[in-house]
Amino acid sequence: MRYRPKNYKVEDQKIFTRLKKNNPYIALLYNFPKILIPHPSIENFQNHFENKKKDSKDKSHLGKIHLEIGCGSGRYLIENAINHKKDSFIGIELRYKRLVLAAKKIERQNIKNILLLRECGEYFDEYFQQNSLDFLHINFPDPWNKKSQRKHRLINHNFISKLSYTMRSNGEFRLKTDHLEYFETVFKILSDSKDFTIIEHTKDLHESIYNDKNILTEFEMLFKSKDNPPIGYFLAKKINKKNN
Ligand SMILES: C[S@@+](CC[C@H](N)C(=O)[O-])C[C@H]1O[C@@H](n2cnc3c(N)ncnc32)[C@H](O)[C@@H]1O
Repeated sequence: MRYRPKNYKVEDQKIFTRLKKNNPYIALLYNFPKILIPHPSIENFQNHFENKKKDSKDKSHLGKIHLEIGCGSGRYLIENAINHKKDSFIGIELRYKRLVLAAKKIERQNIKNILLLRECGEYFDEYFQQNSLDFLHINFPDPWNKKSQRKHRLINHNFISKLSYTMRSNGEFRLKTDHLEYFETVFKILSDSKDFTIIEHTKDLHESIYNDKNILTEFEMLFKSKDNPPIGYFLAKKINKKNN
């Protein structure tokens, strides 16, 4: 069994009081029961997901499934969800404050097709069945720059094989990062993979033909206002085995 953070709100009020004194956002996580799951499990995720479908205006199946890992305070996730109202969006993030800020925006704008999980992105595959995920978006993953830290990176061979399992044929994985060494490492893993093909890529997104359809993230806006580094972007497609 993998480690899951304890739910001190339920299990130990004394510890919970101490924790929320240090970081008030810990307590605020629980204020958005329809939007944010502070302690996700496969069961409560599935229940929330089903309820979201019932909540949707036309009561029909909520189209394609998008996952964004490390969604921060939700700028990209929210714009994407507004642009694709029939699809379902799941945002995974670890930081309390960013999750609360995202949940507040989602609530304020009355957006019904987003669910947030406080979870480690590495475990995304626990929530999706084989061939179920349509889109994965990862924007500016922590680069873990030093060689000795690279083992902590989110995207590696193991991550890509889990993606291969959970993603549908023709599913799409989009990555943006200003860390060009990380970009090249992931690009190579995908280029070598028999399960994916890269159909769009650039090492300078804002100067490329892909810039028009680009949705800015919070970090990207910050970069633009500062030293504006070139941003690597690719779109990799899961290969449809039937066509091979
Ligand atoms: C550099 S920030 C980018 C945030 C956002 N994607 C953007 O572009 O504005 C990286 C984000 O990933 C989150 N993060 C880092 N490691 C993670 C993990 N293992 N699982 C989920 N989120 C993670 C961080 O908390 C942070 O919000």
